[in-house]
Amino acid sequence: MITKDIEKALEVLKQGKLVAIPTETVYGLAGNACNETAITSIFALKQRPTTNPLIVHIKSIKDLEKVSENIPYKAYILAEHFWPGPLTLILPKKPEVSSLITAGNDTVAVRVPDHPMTIELLNKLDFPLVAPSANPYGSISPTSPKHVAGYFDSELEVILDGGACRIGIESTIVGFEKEEVIVYRLGSLLLDEIETLVGPVKLKNSTSANPQAPGMQEKHYAPNKQSYLTENVDQFLTLNSLSNAGVISFQSEILSPRISQQIVLSPKGDLKEASRNLYKAMHQLDLSSVDCIVFESMPKVGLGRTINDKLNRATTKKQ
Ligand code: TXA
Ligand code: MG
Repeated sequence: MITKDIEKALEVLKQGKLVAIPTETVYGLAGNACNETAITSIFALKQRPTTNPLIVHIKSIKDLEKVSENIPYKAYILAEHFWPGPLTLILPKKPEVSSLITAGNDTVAVRVPDHPMTIELLNKLDFPLVAPSANPYGSISPTSPKHVAGYFDSELEVILDGGACRIGIESTIVGFEKEEVIVYRLGSLLLDEIETLVGPVKLKNSTSANPQAPGMQEKHYAPNKQSYLTENVDQFLTLNSLSNAGVISFQSEILSPRISQQIVLSPKGDLKEASRNLYKAMHQLDLSSVDCIVFESMPKVGLGRTINDKLNRATTKKQ
């Protein structure tokens, strides 16, 4: 049920059950990080392979050493600067952290989310929350309570209503190998912003080359409808004889009789606005009567790179 009742959410979480929580990026499917039954039920509800580890959400940087140890100094620099916010750090785990969370890895993913309701929850709980995005494995991430209800309404007693997500795409995932800073998943925190603080980073976000790295499934964020990504929508529709198409474009409306529905992500050409609107647009067209969804690729800079990465995964044919 969608509700703003934080007390009810606390009660459900303390019982070891799951609650959908708002964050600044996407909604999370949260459970007690210290309760293995709760952790197991997250994987079950999402139908997520247990080999794909979860992010631990803590209330502040002060709790970082409760879950991780041997923390590189560059991690502190980034955490102090960007938390609360869309940065996930991969760090050596403390033995107390359940290996169910980390999928048997000796590292743990951790972040401080930036949403007042979820911070209030974390402040009132004496355990952190594990929370993957609140969607079935591989499908479109939710950026509103309604999206979560569309997936899990009957399974969740509490879908905490914190409104539409301010940022709308996932956190950037950063780890450390010796002295190097590695970006494992492009997200809403830009590489430039990270590099300003800790110097050059290495991107390990590619797909099949490095399957053990996080967020790597090639098929991800995917609508149910057949979906395509192209730089030139009009030409693509003609060449492939597609009609009754749903189109998600960046800045300008594309004119073609082959298009039945079109969503322009940001008429003023702002990539932040485009990010905020992306998943909502995908949900909307996936539920509409169009036969396929065609995405126009974004400018290849900043958040445009992140969005293109998600769209590549949303439209890839491989499972
Ligand atoms: O913005 C976000 O990060 C959202 C909100 C809810 O916080 N969460 C999110 O979680 O996107 P999820 O589970 O959908 O994606 C987490 C990613 C996965 O790709 C997982 O493989 C990676 O983090 N990950 C988690 N723990 C890891 C670890 N120890 N080592 C490597 N990758 C890890
Ligand atoms: Mg996810």
